[in-house]
Amino acid sequence: MSAAASAVDPLQRFRLSDQYQTLKSNLHRFLIQQIEERNLDVSHWDDDKLDRFVKEQVKRYVVDNRLPVNQRESEALASDARHELTGFGPIQHLVDDPTVNDIVVNGPGAVFVERGGVLEVAPVRFTDDSHVIRVIQRILAPIGRRVDESTPMVDARLPDGSRVNAIIPPIALNGPCLSIRKFRTSPLTADDLLRYDSISQAEVDYLKARVIGRTNLIVVGGTGSGKTTFLNLISQWIPDAERVITVEDAAELRLENTHVVRLETRPPNLEGQRAITARDLVRNALRMRPDRIIVGEVRGDEVLDMLQAMNTGHDGSMTTLHANSTKDAISRMELLAGFAGFNGSELTFRGQIASSIHLFVHVARLASGARKLIAITEIQGIDGVNLKLRDLFRYDPATGQRHDLRGAA
Ligand SMILES: Nc1ncnc2c1ncn2[C@@H]1O[C@H](COP(=O)(O)OP(=O)(O)O)[C@@H](O)[C@H]1O
Ligand SMILES: [Mg+2]
Repeated sequence: MSAAASAVDPLQRFRLSDQYQTLKSNLHRFLIQQIEERNLDVSHWDDDKLDRFVKEQVKRYVVDNRLPVNQRESEALASDARHELTGFGPIQHLVDDPTVNDIVVNGPGAVFVERGGVLEVAPVRFTDDSHVIRVIQRILAPIGRRVDESTPMVDARLPDGSRVNAIIPPIALNGPCLSIRKFRTSPLTADDLLRYDSISQAEVDYLKARVIGRTNLIVVGGTGSGKTTFLNLISQWIPDAERVITVEDAAELRLENTHVVRLETRPPNLEGQRAITARDLVRNALRMRPDRIIVGEVRGDEVLDMLQAMNTGHDGSMTTLHANSTKDAISRMELLAGFAGFNGSELTFRGQIASSIHLFVHVARLASGARKLIAITEIQGIDGVNLKLRDLFRYDPATGQRHDLRGAA
């Protein structure tokens, strides 16, 4: 169902119409023209002054052009024009809405939001591709980044901690795409996860003891399954006296420990040079006498350095890995190690996994939108060429039952 078809409110329907989009673009051009002709320094105006200016100009434009719009429509037009001028255009109110976690734009006519784990159509649209790109540029400008033909993909963190990914044609086939994952002002706590029934008290108690006991641990799950949230949560249990170094592509973790050094990778510059990779940072972190190293997500050749860190006296190190099960996570690590130039046999690599990692925690986002801890799995060594894995806790999505398997043979 398209956004336009789902809108029942006549005003909402009007706002989604092509006619309104044209009107809004013309009005935008008119406003820019007024500002330029009169040489107005709107960037230094306060909100009230700008509101008044836009309202007046919209009224004038409507009257001068004898537009058939009523009072409500004219107000909507003023508010939209205002967001167009200084904000993020049609998605500004979604950015401001605290109940929205994620905003996804798949081309000008397809905007979605995630609320409470459920993705829904947002009743807004952009005029055309260039409109989406204009908003993307405006989002990226304050952090000194931009998208263009030579850099058609950008992954960045905004000053408020939100993550932004943008990808534009010709790489993106259905028009410019934008995803914004908003930064929660307060991270989820163990109590929140218990309340959402994402995890059981027994699992919390068990993991807390293992984190304090310096277990090397990997959180595995798909995109948006809650890996980072979970890693952040369990990292809070690291005793305060320990020195922790975090390595991330986009600093999302917020540890409250006293001794935390946060490192963030850097993408290559326009000439494709001077990148600082996660591997560079893990290697450097090892020289900073850490007790533990936490890598936000292992997705490249840093996998080897991370395993080595776990193996060489930095027990209690943790990371996340994108995979749909613990078994997948192991294959994925083998693949990444291969790319990273690991030239030992499969057996030596598995041996290294067995001696480096103690525990896997698998999290998932179910079809219902609920996030669950699916399994806590221990590596108990290696049997021939195969890792010996044992589930200690397991959640069965089909029955909604949790099983504590610690006593099972
Ligand atoms: N157990 C949970 N219950 C509800 N929402 C959650 C839960 N875990 C994470 N979230 C929310 O889901 C979104 C994605 O979480 P995140 O940890 O970034 O996922 P990942 O790192 O796997 O991509 C965030 O908005 C986060 O606040
Ligand atoms: Mg993550």
